[in-house]
Amino acid sequence: KEEGEKTLRSPICCIMGHVDSGKTKLLDCIRRTKVQNGEAGGITQQIGATYIPADNIRERAKELKADAKLNVPGLLVIDTPGHESFKNLRSRGSGLCDIAILVVDIMHGLEPQTIESLNLLRVRNTEFIVALNKVDRLYGWKTCRNAPIGKAMKQQSRDVRLEFDHRLTQIITQFKEQGLNTELYSKNKERGETYSIVPTSAISGEGIPEMLLLLVQWAQKTMIDKLTYNNKVQCTVLEVKVIEGLGTTIDVVLVNGVLHEGDEIVVCGFQGPIHSRIRSLLTPHPMKELRVKGAYIHHKEIKAAQGIKIIAQNLEHAVAGTALYTVELDDDVEEIKKSVMDDMIRNVMSRIDTSGEGVYVQASTLGSLEALLDFLKTPAVNIPVSGIGIGPVHKKDVMKASVMLEKKKEFAAILAFDVKVTPEAQEHADNIGVKIYIADIIYHLFDQFKADIDHLKEEKK
Ligand code: GTP
Ligand code: MG
Ligand code: NA
Repeated sequence: KEEGEKTLRSPICCIMGHVDSGKTKLLDCIRRTKVQNGEAGGITQQIGATYIPADNIRERAKELKADAKLNVPGLLVIDTPGHESFKNLRSRGSGLCDIAILVVDIMHGLEPQTIESLNLLRVRNTEFIVALNKVDRLYGWKTCRNAPIGKAMKQQSRDVRLEFDHRLTQIITQFKEQGLNTELYSKNKERGETYSIVPTSAISGEGIPEMLLLLVQWAQKTMIDKLTYNNKVQCTVLEVKVIEGLGTTIDVVLVNGVLHEGDEIVVCGFQGPIHSRIRSLLTPHPMKELRVKGAYIHHKEIKAAQGIKIIAQNLEHAVAGTALYTVELDDDVEEIKKSVMDDMIRNVMSRIDTSGEGVYVQASTLGSLEALLDFLKTPAVNIPVSGIGIGPVHKKDVMKASVMLEKKKEFAAILAFDVKVTPEAQEHADNIGVKIYIADIIYHLFDQFKADIDHLKEEKK
């Protein structure tokens, strides 16, 4: 290592794009695995993580550049689903990553979840490259297995190259319509302003060398501060899973710091903070997917960045997408417990209106709360929200909702989705005139509430 050179951690790279554009297949091609074949209906429904050591990247790119200088230990790739119903998982993945690959099917161009993914990346100013995938489907494509795309292109007939140019031009125009400058990576002289497009095939591997090398070199060159290893633990829960023989486990991404077997941890739970101790720290082998059950490696300790499976007690109600904290010698556990719950509430609160006028929304889980908030926000519904809660409706929730009695009477209501209302809460609500709507189907809540609002308006006339 050269003097003064900083220790960098592995960049975290999220792979995003429309359903079936080939995200998982691209990773399979890099890993030499068959994860996609094992997916129900061929669609990804969970978020995954794979560690790719720098040596594997170097090996994969050697025809393109012998002995590429890589200053990072590897790349941690997060696979996300493209199906429209998994926006929360795309959001979770994009929120974690340092850099991203946006996969576009060359035969389809930009599709709805391409655009949605693009916007998620833009909101956070995340750098990305575009993998223009399925080039092998161009009519007459000559396979050049695992070759650099530059080399593979030279082997193609004039017709194939014309079709490629035509489709590329169209797709560049589509990006332009989204307000984004893109250019074929080999012509791109203004990286940073203009996003690079790398043609790939996940079936025959053309373009994989450029894709990997471009990502890693771009990250290690422009993100030194962000990637400089820091020993303060920064860790996010990706998924909560019951694994036969292991019980409830959590899959996490450790962004910074070190986790040890026996570490005391605090994570956010649906029924309050979870205080536990790491029983085992597991990872899949390098180049294997964390979300696929396989042979795990046990670790005494593990350093960021990594995708890790943690076994500990009481994880049943852990909330995916929230932070995991470790309790150090001088830490006040109660403080940490409070902050994990605050994090969650802030996270969800940031998605609601802050005009201060609106109904109070209560749901059974964070997931259902998010779904309900999204539903209330749709233009056809458009009901403002001023407060939220998780779990049964208590008297204190009624008191919070009652603030609206003075501001806007029709909003002095609680939409209770899939939760119980305590008798004291109901009694208090009846006494002061807060209306509680209870339903276990989102639309029913809306229908009842809407009927009452319309009725109120009629009365006013
Ligand atoms: P979701 O995770 O469900 O959003 O899909 P995905 O983007 O991960 O796509 P996936 O890897 O599941 O691939 C979808 C289909 O496209 C599969 O049938 C793949 O075999 C096929 N496919 C993916 N990449 C390529 C490619 O480069 N060339 C060809 N010909 N087919 C591909
Ligand atoms: Mg997939
Ligand atoms: Na798929």
